[in-house]
Amino acid sequence: MTSPPTYTPKNVVITGGCGFIGSNFVNYIHDAWPTCNFVNIDKLILNSDTQNVNESVRQSPRYKLVLTDIKNEAAILNIDTVIHFAADCTSTRCYNETAEAVQNNVLSFIQFLDTVRKYGRIQRFVHISTDEVYGDSDLSADEQGKVEHSRLLPGNPYAATKIAGEAYVRAYQRQYNLPIVTARMNNIYGPNQWDVKVVPRFIEIAKARGEYTIQGTGKQLRSWLFVDDASAGLKAVTENGRLHEIYNLGTYYEKNVADLAKTIQEEVDRQLGRAHEPPRYKSIPDRPYNDLRYFISIEKAQNELGWTPSTSFDEGMRITVASALKERKHVKMHVAIYGGKGYVGQELQHVLKAREIPYVLAEKKVGFDEDEEVEKELALLGVTHVICVTGRTHGPGCNTIEYLEGGADKVFINVRDNMYSATILAHMCRKIGLHYTYIGTGYMFAYDKEHPIGGDEFKEEGMPGWENLNVRITLPLSLDLEQPRNLLSKIIKYKELFDIPVSLTILPDCMNTMCNLMEQRTGGTLNLVNPEPISLYEVVKIYKEIVDDAVNPTPIGVETERAQQLLATKGNCALDTQKLQRIAPVLSAKESLIKHFNEMVAK
Ligand SMILES: NC(=O)c1ccc[n+]([C@@H]2O[C@H](COP(=O)([O-])OP(=O)(O)OC[C@H]3O[C@@H](n4cnc5c(N)ncnc54)[C@H](O)[C@@H]3O)[C@@H](O)[C@H]2O)c1
Repeated sequence: MTSPPTYTPKNVVITGGCGFIGSNFVNYIHDAWPTCNFVNIDKLILNSDTQNVNESVRQSPRYKLVLTDIKNEAAILNIDTVIHFAADCTSTRCYNETAEAVQNNVLSFIQFLDTVRKYGRIQRFVHISTDEVYGDSDLSADEQGKVEHSRLLPGNPYAATKIAGEAYVRAYQRQYNLPIVTARMNNIYGPNQWDVKVVPRFIEIAKARGEYTIQGTGKQLRSWLFVDDASAGLKAVTENGRLHEIYNLGTYYEKNVADLAKTIQEEVDRQLGRAHEPPRYKSIPDRPYNDLRYFISIEKAQNELGWTPSTSFDEGMRITVASALKERKHVKMHVAIYGGKGYVGQELQHVLKAREIPYVLAEKKVGFDEDEEVEKELALLGVTHVICVTGRTHGPGCNTIEYLEGGADKVFINVRDNMYSATILAHMCRKIGLHYTYIGTGYMFAYDKEHPIGGDEFKEEGMPGWENLNVRITLPLSLDLEQPRNLLSKIIKYKELFDIPVSLTILPDCMNTMCNLMEQRTGGTLNLVNPEPISLYEVVKIYKEIVDDAVNPTPIGVETERAQQLLATKGNCALDTQKLQRIAPVLSAKESLIKHFNEMVAK
């Protein structure tokens, strides 16, 4: 039995409420605090999903979702309580992008603490931390559970960032008397968990009756706290926790990873109504710091808060598996488009609509409107991702890129529209914490001595860019024959066509791939073209064979004088696609065209 509350929240901000634990907490607490209003602040990193919050809660007048980074000061308004979950908790980001994890879990968090301090009206701030701050425990039977004043000995970069966060909590408590209570939680399982984590990953393996990959020996022990028990614990910490204190929330129920596989296979087979088959294991190398066991004492929470976990592991696993087997919709990003009315922008809109990804067209024009105005609009758009498709490729009296070669005034336009706007928008996104995608061009390359036809292709240079994706498209082709700027609608009308292989960006394929990369918050520079260059003559030949026999172009061979002139112009090049094929494979240009042309005919 939990104790009667000594603190009653009224207007609560929950940060990270679209993530795993945060969304379960929102779903739980909406009814448990029936008169409270809730604002969920989330920037939807990686697997977060606005649909993790139950439909009934999303429709509730007491619930509001604000898609933004916690560092956005505008998000803190008319509230008395903060429950802070938002953090980077994934190994990819914390291990491979250590500086980015520090940026989020420490620097953005400090900015958030400072906003709360300046706001000055918060009566209770619950800070969520982890048992990983203690480092791992011994596997022996007489090992004592870590208590709240045990030494902090992080065994991995994630735990290190969480300790840094806690250090600032303590400093802000001491210096400004901020009313913070900290909860350090055990390993948690339940619905809405990302499938890189062991429980959802094993459920997928169980469904497919695949082999269970076990890191190292598989004998690492983990405590398994069901997420609703964690939510009840956080409710108790909020209502009755003593200010400036720390409470461990956990369970003494432990299971090793190999035994977990057995339970999950049994439960999945049972729920799918099929005969049980015992799991098959495959050992894989251990990760650099795979801690053996996290064993914490929960006596303080039990004695002071009257909280204790009450869901059995079997019951928790039944709920978790049932949730994972249910089909559901996902919304993992909200997008703002700059330059969305152009040719590529319109194609992009088709893809976003087809995938039911919410998006808005920004009204402010970067480079035309004052930067402050642009930034103000951007901060209020309520989006998690920005795509910049702005750019100047033609103008009055000239329908090609040569327009930009027409004198000093054109240099100004070129710099403003093709360089400044894209760069300034990237800076703004970085400041506000939004993922940024720039659709750039491969037209800066042309076949040359180092990159002859059929030889080495132009590679992406290794520009770093976490949260900042720079895709190079070239000769963008769509299937919309009504669109006058579409390469395909142009070339099927030409009498003569160049017959040298060039890279093509087949927009429906490449825009879909780009959306996948955005959802994964990929950064860096990427040649976004279909692999295996193809000549424009060959494209129309395939079109003729599949769609319309009436088209009849003649090829211009590479050896002709005309071809030699054309060859030196931008866009005639082959871009290397090894990086793209490694991270997000797309069909070769020929395969894709055959597929799309056949679909065209079928329609
Ligand atoms: N999963 C566990 O077993 C576990 C155990 C102990 C403690 N914790 C702690 O619980 C909290 C939640 O963990 P989780 O497993 O639910 O993680 P999660 O990744 O599923 O959720 C984190 C959420 O925070 C959001 N977020 C991250 N940075 C943000 C920012 N700067 N601005 C706005 N939103 C941001 C993400 O979009 C995501 O929705 C974390 O603080 C974590 O350290 C987790």
